[in-house]
Amino acid sequence: SESDRKISLDLYEFHKDIMIAAKNNLITCKKNEVLEFLARRDLNDDLINEFDIGYLDSLDKLSSILKKYDKDIVKSSGLFYEQDGFFSFKLKNRLLFPIKNLREKVVGFSGRVTDDSLPKYINSPETQIFSKRKILYNLDKTKKHLSGEVKVLYVVEGYMDVIRMWQYGIKNVVSPMGTALTEDHVSLLKRYADEVVLLFDGDEAGKNAAMRSLDVFLKNSFIPFVVFLNKGEDPDSFLQKFGKEKFLKILDNKYDLFELIIKRMFKKSINNVNLKTKYLKILQSKLVLIKDELLKESYIEKISKIFGIDPQIFKKGVDFSTAKRI
Ligand code: UTP
Ligand code: MN
Ligand code: MN
Ligand code: MN
Ligand code: MN
Repeated sequence: SESDRKISLDLYEFHKDIMIAAKNNLITCKKNEVLEFLARRDLNDDLINEFDIGYLDSLDKLSSILKKYDKDIVKSSGLFYEQDGFFSFKLKNRLLFPIKNLREKVVGFSGRVTDDSLPKYINSPETQIFSKRKILYNLDKTKKHLSGEVKVLYVVEGYMDVIRMWQYGIKNVVSPMGTALTEDHVSLLKRYADEVVLLFDGDEAGKNAAMRSLDVFLKNSFIPFVVFLNKGEDPDSFLQKFGKEKFLKILDNKYDLFELIIKRMFKKSINNVNLKTKYLKILQSKLVLIKDELLKESYIEKISKIFGIDPQIFKKGVDFSTAKRI
């Protein structure tokens, strides 16, 4: 409605005002814990400016902003607690990463502690203008850097991964802000890229997240590649420790996610016909998710080849599969 529109416009302005105030405050900040964090994570002024990173340690810096806006706007941003008629900022004393939509409007923030306390990050809640499941961090910036015949997008877990890759000149990178890739994320990826490479953290969570994301890609008839980092590293830490050349080598070593899963199933069931049959049925149920007939056909071929079976027989189970979705 018209009033919703008005609220949204004010909310965008409100977030932008906070972003500017927080950035100015960070650039002049003299607090030891902050300076140490910035130094430790190699976040220089260029990066702070490029990603509009901020920090707020007192509400004084927001007082003129808070006066300028309707109380309802302040409340509906979800960024403040209200106590005895006063507002307090939920992301106080945290490094602030503004999250922007495709039109480069700030729609939310994520705040990181500058020490080891928990929770590490606090994000804006779902609001009228922010939905985590629909937004990819950095897509607003990266979309201008996608060029060439095959547009490649790297998908990383976190803010620092995006920022570090950007610093090293790898600008085609976005983050779902965690490991949960939704159908909305995948359709965005498909809209902007011809090729997606999942580059999650080198831990169990990162690996599992990549494997788990297969179905949501299949539903979009879009198959990603996946790359595995050394144990315990994420793109940020890897680049910091080993540099760009080694990182690019890792990126070269990418696997088609679906093919990887197919091959794993084959290897696991090589001496077990029952398991092999079970896996083939699971694969048939996966193929059912693919709407694009050409793509479906090429994976029917791949699976038949890898498992050494007749594609015609395998195919019969695909269109009328009764196998449960797993
Ligand atoms: P990670 O735990 O891998 O953090 O979470 P990170 O990005 O490597 O952060 P640093 O390097 O320790 O500073 C990956 C992403 O998951 C989301 C954030 O988007 C984070 O960047 N996350 C993580 C949260 O939203 N909340 C959390 O408490 C933790
Ligand atoms: Mn800029
Ligand atoms: Mn992680
Ligand atoms: Mn990290
Ligand atoms: Mn990480």
